[in-house]
Amino acid sequence: TVYHETDASTDPLDGDTVAVLGYGNQGRSQASNMRDAGLEVVIGNRADDSREQAREDGFDAYPMAEATARADVVLFLVPDEVQPEVYERTVEPNLGPGDALVFASGYNVTYGYVEVDPAVDVALVAPRMIGAVVRELYEAGRGAPALLAVHRDATGEAKSRALAVAAGIGSTRSGVVETDFETETRTDLLSEQGLFPVFAAALLARFEVESEAGVPPEVTLLESYLSREMAHIFEKCATEGLVAQMDLHSRTSQYGQLLGLEAFDREPIREFMRERLAAIESGEFAEEWTQEQAAEDSRLDRLRRQYENSAFVETEQTTLDAFGLREE
Ligand code: NAI
Repeated sequence: TVYHETDASTDPLDGDTVAVLGYGNQGRSQASNMRDAGLEVVIGNRADDSREQAREDGFDAYPMAEATARADVVLFLVPDEVQPEVYERTVEPNLGPGDALVFASGYNVTYGYVEVDPAVDVALVAPRMIGAVVRELYEAGRGAPALLAVHRDATGEAKSRALAVAAGIGSTRSGVVETDFETETRTDLLSEQGLFPVFAAALLARFEVESEAGVPPEVTLLESYLSREMAHIFEKCATEGLVAQMDLHSRTSQYGQLLGLEAFDREPIREFMRERLAAIESGEFAEEWTQEQAAEDSRLDRLRRQYENSAFVETEQTTLDAFGLREE
């Protein structure tokens, strides 16, 4: 089911207080949109720069415990990695029967790292967009598409309240797809663990092949993505379509692209994605990541160092400077 502006409004939250816990990428944008939509919004944040920012933006900002206690509907927008600890210490003791807890990511509920009192509604409103753009779109009279799910309907109102949140952040202006927490988690993690690595591996492989063939490395990287031509092509894919946007390229280019696609064996990529998906679905990835986060020198840190010190990244960084490509 897909919900649009005609299917939902903020009315079910009339008279309610909405607390946004975590005034960061998503929190700042979602809180601002909901306030503009006429909702009563308070911010809960630890005493850091984000809380100062919330006050500068004109919000009433409290410690998270106090904001939770004041609210009927709580949007839990701190990073997934810290949610279990923050939930137990700060949120749980202040949620009352009939309140609603709304996530923007299915991760912690899917894997059982956050278990919510049965008297509380648990829902998901997950914009498919980075926080800053959630705000930009709203200000332009549009909205970011979102996924919506209800994990627990304790009050009989969980879905209408989640839809009201989606309306408040502007997502019903675009489209809100109903799904479940597990599906949101699977598809989100597979973007990160399946799709992005394939894109990055293609960039690395091309760099390796052209280096062997004597193409200057900065030329390869400008051609690959540093010139932003690729970014513009992806923009056009998103607004016109993967094949339709080919009209913007020469016929020589179109022929070459489709010939290459025909020659490419996708089965190894499918197999790679199936393996990643299996580790996501079994919880193997989540378990490993939980252990890694507790480690001194985590595998994440070691892998980052490994790639940061690669010829590819060194060339990329010097090219960014040499061609003045960094954003001001
Ligand atoms: P963020 O990284 O911007 O952090 C939000 C706030 O959490 C920070 O401003 C900070 O004040 C607070 N915080 C950080 N560590 C803390 C700790 N240890 N204890 C207490 N407070 C702490 O978070 P972001 O990226 O906005 O993510 C929030 C939720 O939205 C997550 O569930 C994420 O999966 C989801 N999401 C994020 C998207 C994005 O574009 N970043 C896209 C869609 C969903």
